[in-house]
Amino acid sequence: MELSIAVLPGDGIGPEITDQALKITEAVAKKFGHSLEHEHALTGAAAIDKTGNPYPDETHELCMRSDAVLFGAIGDPKYDNDPNAKVRPEQGLLAMRKKLGLYANIRPLTTFKSLIHKSPLRQDLVDGADFVCIRELTGGIYFGRPQGRTEDQNTAYDTCVYTREEIERILKLGFEFAGKRRKKLTVVDKANVLATSRLWREITQEMAPQYPDIKVEYMFVDNAAMQLIQWPKNFDVMVTENMFGDILTDEASVISGSLGLLPSASVGIHTSVFEPIHGSYPQAAGKNIANPCATILSAAMMFEYAFDLHEEAKLITDAVEQSIEKGIVTEDLANEGEKNYSTSDVGDWIVNYIKSY
Ligand code: IPM
Ligand code: MN
Repeated sequence: MELSIAVLPGDGIGPEITDQALKITEAVAKKFGHSLEHEHALTGAAAIDKTGNPYPDETHELCMRSDAVLFGAIGDPKYDNDPNAKVRPEQGLLAMRKKLGLYANIRPLTTFKSLIHKSPLRQDLVDGADFVCIRELTGGIYFGRPQGRTEDQNTAYDTCVYTREEIERILKLGFEFAGKRRKKLTVVDKANVLATSRLWREITQEMAPQYPDIKVEYMFVDNAAMQLIQWPKNFDVMVTENMFGDILTDEASVISGSLGLLPSASVGIHTSVFEPIHGSYPQAAGKNIANPCATILSAAMMFEYAFDLHEEAKLITDAVEQSIEKGIVTEDLANEGEKNYSTSDVGDWIVNYIKSY
């Protein structure tokens, strides 16, 4: 196959981790006889510094003409600590999601046997946890208008908005995912308080009869936050709105022992984007210490979802699993007193595994 990807490293550790994922993508493409073209483009604070725009038109055009986008991370402390900044790096990520129509963010959570002891939760609760969170990504309070301040600046407001069409398309994906898995769909909302949540529930109830083999469960988000850490194994597919999904997936990430392990795929109308769920980790930027695995696993999702190349995807996930098993891990995953490896060491080890496989 001919594959073309846009690489958007972004900020902080973004460049180092996308470098590793790209190396691995290239090695897999070569192994399976695919031709791969890639081009880098600016986004986030890096793009603001050079162009004034966190998602420049040029970057968008590259994304539109590529088969997939490999994305690093966005965010810079100099903006976090300046609530008055007119342009923020995160706006680049939001603009990209909106302009590419990426309405669904798929965040799978699995555990690695050799890392179970790293989880802050009890081993018997965590071992075997395996679920997918489907987060709505282009609606809700992130995008609802009006948003802003009153003239005297003393009152601020955000608006949570969902249309029937937005809810139907994300629920459809949720039902389909559940159909391919253990056939349980948990709809997470706050229907006891929010009108948008009540619309989500109403539409779920309308759609459920079309999927008679799926067991639908409704859960308030506060309860879900608790159940997620108390009984993570009870979840199969969870579908939820934008902000709830943002929060619950960070929470879910600790189940596996490190935020540095969770990949994601954002899919929708135009080119899909593959990115780790963690942030730009500015304290580690340029130090070659960040865990590249979430981004490498995002590259695996790229092979699976964007290219429909399952064997290639599996080779990458197997390689990551092996690296963890063999202890070729960055400092966040290393056991006390044991050697840890740099970001590029881990990437090189995985490339070699793929070459020699
Ligand atoms: C994520 C991030 C983003 C989000 C931020 C950086 C805007 O936290 O992808 O989860 O909130 O969606
Ligand atoms: Mn987040």
